[in-house]
Amino acid sequence: MKSAKSYIAENKQRFIDELIELLKIPSISADSAYKSDVIKTAQLVKSSLEKAGCTTVEICDTPGNPIVYGERIIDPKLPTILVYGHYDVQPPDPLNLWDSPPFEPIIKKTELHPDGALYARGSCDDKGQMYMHVKALEYMTATGQLPCNVKFMIEGEEEVGSKNLGGFVQQNHEKLANNVILISDTGMIANDIPSITTGLRGLSYVEVEVTGPNRDLHSGLYGGAVANPINVMTKMIASLHDENNHITIPGFYDDVEELSLEERAKMAEAPFSKEAYCKALDIADVYGEKGYTTNERNSIRPTLDVNGIWGGYTGEGAKTVIASKAYAKISMRLVPHQDWVKITDLFKNHFESIAPKGVTVKVTPHHGGQGYVTPIDNIGYRAAEKAYESTFGKTPIPQRSGGSIPIVALFEQELKSKTILMGFGLDSDAIHSPNEHFGIWNYLKGIETIPQFFHYFTEMTK
Ligand code: BES
Ligand code: MN
Ligand code: MN
Repeated sequence: MKSAKSYIAENKQRFIDELIELLKIPSISADSAYKSDVIKTAQLVKSSLEKAGCTTVEICDTPGNPIVYGERIIDPKLPTILVYGHYDVQPPDPLNLWDSPPFEPIIKKTELHPDGALYARGSCDDKGQMYMHVKALEYMTATGQLPCNVKFMIEGEEEVGSKNLGGFVQQNHEKLANNVILISDTGMIANDIPSITTGLRGLSYVEVEVTGPNRDLHSGLYGGAVANPINVMTKMIASLHDENNHITIPGFYDDVEELSLEERAKMAEAPFSKEAYCKALDIADVYGEKGYTTNERNSIRPTLDVNGIWGGYTGEGAKTVIASKAYAKISMRLVPHQDWVKITDLFKNHFESIAPKGVTVKVTPHHGGQGYVTPIDNIGYRAAEKAYESTFGKTPIPQRSGGSIPIVALFEQELKSKTILMGFGLDSDAIHSPNEHFGIWNYLKGIETIPQFFHYFTEMTK
């Protein structure tokens, strides 16, 4: 029987070339101008699943972007693994900060990726990681080693909040029935420190609009006499954190899960260098909630961050004006037990309540979702652990991530199965940023490790 290692070695160039073709299509879900590219990408995912060994593949239309569903059922008595991923990508802007065009993939060597990394929007998040599963399936079917049933559900709206996936899951319980859900859309600590993501944060994303006078005003004639919406809004936003960087919204922490000292001590065992962290980001020091470490701040603690802020004159030169309106987009990352709908309400009520009389405030929720934690004492986690041990030669470290995949909590609720997050990207791969990349080594390691998960999960389920 052919090993994954030798199959990958023989097909390496083709695996890379196929991913490059997928990365060339700008499947940007946030911008409707790219709708036809989104459809083209879904079609390419469909044909790649067919070639890799799925017996049924369909493009399922939704009111938004289509979901690609595929399956290979070898024996209904065997366990079924449902692979989830997304083929949509974040907008690439600001374009001028890319060293090479985002949809013209190139391979470059870096310090962390001496074997080369593929530079393109979506290379790591999530086309590259999703495609590892397609190639893993190809390997297992081509060599007669698929040990169980497999289903694929690859969506095109993850980066804009998975608006239509929830309905699809609710309406297709039987079709999607599975024993475990497998996702590669997160990261690991380092190539020589494998880790499995055991937690994702929830999210509440809102937009605020602060309106002052009914028109833009001369900042000399009116300045000082009326509320300037930009001054007021920035002051309101600043007041959302206290001097210890705690969030001041009443009730915000009510449901936050407090980890025991033991659990926190366990977390602190994960390797972390503050110096290297600061150096990689060109910052003099870290910053955040008092009483917590960096790794805690970005995983087990909730946060509130302005993601964008605008208003007034931002063109060239100076214009003396008091704008009528100011705007901001704000994300709150949530931890287990915090309910995103409740938090969104708390934010809205609080933000409206702190507005001075001279302005009106409008809070518009965008999207959100609940956090998720995978217990490490279930078959799925143990199978993943064994899989990493066999390909990395090391036991992976369980690690909670700060990112969000809101649909994961819904999977558990609707399909009653656990999700295993086998991510092969690195934090430094610049997802959502200019120069996103994905290590070739990581891509191939993923393709090698996934079949091992299939093997151990089937063994342990029998
Ligand atoms: N793949 C990411 C989430 C992620 C990345 C989790 C790395 C853990 C580690 C996903 O595509 C993403 O970007 N999610 C969004 C939320 C979504 C509702 C837009 C996020 O976390 O900002
Ligand atoms: Mn993703
Ligand atoms: Mn993303």
